[in-house]
Amino acid sequence: MLLPINVKIVEVGPRDGLQNEKETIPAEIKIELVNRLTRAGFSNIEAASFVSPKWVPQMATSVQVMAGITRKPGVVYSALTPNMQGFEAALAAKAGEVVIFGSASEAFSQKNINCSIAESIERFRPVAEAAKRHGMRLRGSISCAFGCPYQGEVSPESVADAVRRMRELLCDEIDIADTIGVATPLQAQNVMERVAREFPITELSGHFHDTYGQALANIYASMEVGISIFHSSVAGLGGCPYAKGATGNVATEDVLYMMQGLGIETGVDLNAVVDAGQFIAQYLGRKAASRAGNAIAARRKG
Ligand code: HMG
Ligand code: MG
Repeated sequence: MLLPINVKIVEVGPRDGLQNEKETIPAEIKIELVNRLTRAGFSNIEAASFVSPKWVPQMATSVQVMAGITRKPGVVYSALTPNMQGFEAALAAKAGEVVIFGSASEAFSQKNINCSIAESIERFRPVAEAAKRHGMRLRGSISCAFGCPYQGEVSPESVADAVRRMRELLCDEIDIADTIGVATPLQAQNVMERVAREFPITELSGHFHDTYGQALANIYASMEVGISIFHSSVAGLGGCPYAKGATGNVATEDVLYMMQGLGIETGVDLNAVVDAGQFIAQYLGRKAASRAGNAIAARRKG
């Protein structure tokens, strides 16, 4: 199959990227990061997470972040909402899209959201209905679609089952997530081809963490089978607090560099993302985990 002409990049750095940071990052820094990403041209930025602050303390600033960002018309600012309490907060914060996040692995569902897969769907149901009632976009995220830190292997059939359940809740878009970054390209294609039998392929996305260094290869392989939405995190920030050892999402700068080389349109300005990546890495006091970002920054200095 031919590669896509356009790809949508969902920037998840302010949420997936920062949620795992130990030191509380002030809301102003997060706001500055989101504003920089907005100016870089993303059409969708995951900016907040309305989860229990006892479970993920870093996301407790989500109300201030959503209130403080400068919104650009047409840009969708998303927020994670595990239950109605989260939904009410997302509604009050004027999120454009809410994300219900489940799992293809029973073990991970218990660890991450403290309930079984079946129970999680019942919690999501009122959230999904409320999102539709309020005209908000609804996204479903499926963790551990390629492997689980607790149960090991996850079958493509259980991913397909999770996709069907998210489809029944009327999700507009569904993320197939490699939480612990273990997928390899052929596996990525197999799972994507399987789930595309359950949901329109144009509304499926690849959410690849880069723990084993396979994320770019997995994105390329997924494009070969027709996927055209990908998640990435500026400066390669991140990890999931309930998936020990899992590193960040694939770095946005690296994805954009590859897309540019392939002549694939993203609408995002790579140079502006490099700046945003260097900004947040400097704040955190460490080098950005983006090969392309650091190379471009070094070339500028040279
Ligand atoms: P629970 O303890 O079963 O929930 O947690 P509960 O309903 O019994 O409530 C317990 C307490 O939490 C109560 O407070 C609630 O008010 C509060 P208390 O009375 O003890 O003071 N609470 C909330 N507070 C704020 N906002 C809320 C909320 N809900 C309850 N929405 C729950 C269940 C789902 C809440 C919890 O397990 C949780 O917050 N989990 C979040 C885990 C998380 O955020 N993980 C990271 C994001 S997922 C991810 O990174 C994966 C992804 O990137 C894809 C991939 O890579 O795989 C998306
Ligand atoms: Mg993730």
